[in-house]
Amino acid sequence: MSETYDLLFRNVRIIDGTGAVERIGDVGVFGNRISAVGNLSSSRGTREIEGRGLVLAPGFIDVHTHDDALALDGNPMEPKLTQGVTTVVVGNCGISLAPLKPGIPLLPPLNIIGGSDEYRFPTFRSYVKALEEKPPALNVAPMVGHSTLRVAVMDRLDRAATSSEITQMEELLQEALDSGAIGFSTGLYYPPAREAPPEEVLTLLKRLALSGAIYTTHMRNEDDFLEDSLRESFDTAGAADVPLVISHHKCMGKNNHGLSMQTLKMFDEVRKKQLVGLDAYPYTAGSSALLPEMVEQCERVLITWSEPHPECNGRDLAEVAQEWDTTINDAIEHLLPAGAVYFHMAEEDVQRIISYPHTMIGSDGIPRGARPHPRLWGTFPRVLGRYARDLKLMSLENAVHKMTGLAAETFRLEDRGYVAEGKFADMVLFDPEMIDDTATYETPEMRANGIHMVVVNGTVLLEEGFILDHSPGKVLKRTSH
Ligand code: ZN
Ligand code: CU
Repeated sequence: MSETYDLLFRNVRIIDGTGAVERIGDVGVFGNRISAVGNLSSSRGTREIEGRGLVLAPGFIDVHTHDDALALDGNPMEPKLTQGVTTVVVGNCGISLAPLKPGIPLLPPLNIIGGSDEYRFPTFRSYVKALEEKPPALNVAPMVGHSTLRVAVMDRLDRAATSSEITQMEELLQEALDSGAIGFSTGLYYPPAREAPPEEVLTLLKRLALSGAIYTTHMRNEDDFLEDSLRESFDTAGAADVPLVISHHKCMGKNNHGLSMQTLKMFDEVRKKQLVGLDAYPYTAGSSALLPEMVEQCERVLITWSEPHPECNGRDLAEVAQEWDTTINDAIEHLLPAGAVYFHMAEEDVQRIISYPHTMIGSDGIPRGARPHPRLWGTFPRVLGRYARDLKLMSLENAVHKMTGLAAETFRLEDRGYVAEGKFADMVLFDPEMIDDTATYETPEMRANGIHMVVVNGTVLLEEGFILDHSPGKVLKRTSH
């Protein structure tokens, strides 16, 4: 029987997101769903696209983003869209725009996702509503951040929360979950949550457990106490019986280079008894707010933005300090509030972690500042081009699986992450020979090569370099259990 589809891809190399070997076939889209996959030679499409040797894959899911504000107001989300990303998970590292009453002073790292103009959502529901009223370009799966909750209910953050403050946080957390938050994140490394003991987190996780939402953590430590922090994370999540994702797993600082040999074994062990996943980005430098304690572990630090000294954007911190004839710490004082790129990982660990079969891909890109870390624009094509095709650390199919099916299963994004009949039509058409990141530390705002078309919920949003003026993204809310 012949059908007419809205979109019909003919003779494409289908990589379906399961990790299965690619196959040549046709894919028909009707409305916002994929309605057929196979041999559709007797069917027609209102719009037909010839494969020409290109790969059709599920749209990439960026599981670790700070796009909370970028997704608002129908922004085209160009850094992500042009990589083939169709869904972003926001609210990571303990920070989310909601719920926070406007006018509260924004401590770092809350300022990496927005300024006081963006922190305008006193309830989680009001944030979700803003996204729904002006739909985002890409799908947005929102999480709520522990540090945001702490800032919302505590007068000072250099201590553990009292039991009445924990109760208030539980209420805010519940409101977020009821409004569709898919998860809860902590950033125990950062000053606003550093003094939160595991018991405080555990009480909140117990609330989470009742909802089926996920827990992600930027751990207390990623350098000299990396293994202790992994154990703490496994234990708290295990005690509350919630699924856990360790964010941007890395081994920071010279003393700890090579440690991924041990840490990945810890993941193998713990995964036998509880749900634990991890994500990573394909670079040896990290990025965050400018913090003196992070500078200590680094070979080199670049300033991404500085409010009082924008002339320093993109410059080397040590050079600036030398020029000002001050110590590094004094220079930091003058530059704040500011952001930085930190060179503190070994390529050997990055490769080992990226190619670990259970690692998902999360850009951790920070869409703020004049010279953002290149991961914002390059993460997904870099994994496919450099790490899969050129270095052959994994097959293209396995690389795609990490950024699609595995991510959708872990974050429980229903009917996403696969090219299969009945799934939402989030897809990317790319050239596996040409795909590559072009963004560098020097010129970070550069589109990737090799992305031909991006489809979000059945709507073509990017085609041969042109961003079409649509906002087909949906808020992916947690479906209740
Ligand atoms: Zn983080
Ligand atoms: Cu992050």
